[in-house]
Amino acid sequence: MGYFRENIEKAKGYEPGFQPKDSAVVKLNTNENPYPPTPMVLKVLSEISPEQLRRYPDPMASAFRQAAAEVNSVAPDYIMCCNGGDELLKMAFQAFCDENRPVAYPVPTYSLYPVLAGLQNCKAVEIPFDNEFNLPAKLAGTGAALTIVCNPNAPTGSFINVDELASLADEAGGVLLIDEAYVDFAEKNCTALVKDFDNVIILRSMSKGYSLAGLRFGYAIARPDLIAGLLKLKDSYNADAISISAATAAIKDREYFKQTIEKVKAERSRLSVQLKGLGFELPESSSNFVFAEHKSVKAKDIYGKLVQRNIFVRYWDLEGIDNKLRISVGTPEQDDRLLAALKETLDTD
Ligand SMILES: Cc1ncc(COP(=O)(O)O)c(C=O)c1O
Repeated sequence: MGYFRENIEKAKGYEPGFQPKDSAVVKLNTNENPYPPTPMVLKVLSEISPEQLRRYPDPMASAFRQAAAEVNSVAPDYIMCCNGGDELLKMAFQAFCDENRPVAYPVPTYSLYPVLAGLQNCKAVEIPFDNEFNLPAKLAGTGAALTIVCNPNAPTGSFINVDELASLADEAGGVLLIDEAYVDFAEKNCTALVKDFDNVIILRSMSKGYSLAGLRFGYAIARPDLIAGLLKLKDSYNADAISISAATAAIKDREYFKQTIEKVKAERSRLSVQLKGLGFELPESSSNFVFAEHKSVKAKDIYGKLVQRNIFVRYWDLEGIDNKLRISVGTPEQDDRLLAALKETLDTD
């Protein structure tokens, strides 16, 4: 017997996407935004004062909380800041799940959810999506303490309508966490549901739409009662002074944000058309990646050949998704390199 709790001994831990050190590679494997954050972020970083570093940060990250509240048209007490959206997921498992309180979610989805279920020692009820990635009706009847729907979903990019998630919130019984890490690239979001339902938590991330994956900043939107409960689990200083300043500058620059999102969406359309032309099938994406399957060539083979050419996309050797590639939308130049490499490898097959 080791020193760890049995479920921790058994846990494999989450395997993050490969982070190559070489800057010459085309990196389309972890859904980072291909564009830099707003220059306002660099400006505030250059203005960080020794005093800001000497003192502990604001435990509530009030400046960001206020700005995020305005952007989402809610009161500040509907917002809780966290150290990336992943921290909120961990807190939700701790808050709502245990041996007798399962989590439920449709699959395939974000591979962190089963990892967190293992760490929390709670049962995970996994309900498969149909081929069109519609919300499974059975999800409403699981009796789970926590139901998670990733919307737009990762790794499929598919989107579930807000009214369907409203019905799920109504029927689910427990808490419904809607993981909107990628929602900035979609046409709609579920923020309005927090006004109608006392069991809905929305997860937002600054990593994707705001190009701040290196910073680690995300937030929850929920009714003040839920936020107050989650705050009990929060590290007092989960967001540091530097990241609070940078994330606040980023969320306030609405014009830059809109421009970046439009560029990614336009490139997503172009990439999707080009991939289809090369024989790939892909569901419509509401995210900053596409989930592609080639009609005749195995995903694993394509993945290997791209790696040889220093191009990284995401591949999972997992049942159900082992013939798909998740490809982040890059800049037009990065995507052109990917498309050229694909043409070459598919021709030689
Ligand atoms: C579906 C999903 N949810 C949440 C997150 C967490 O994002 P972050 O912790 O970078 O804010 C990610 C990150 O890749 C994700 O893919």
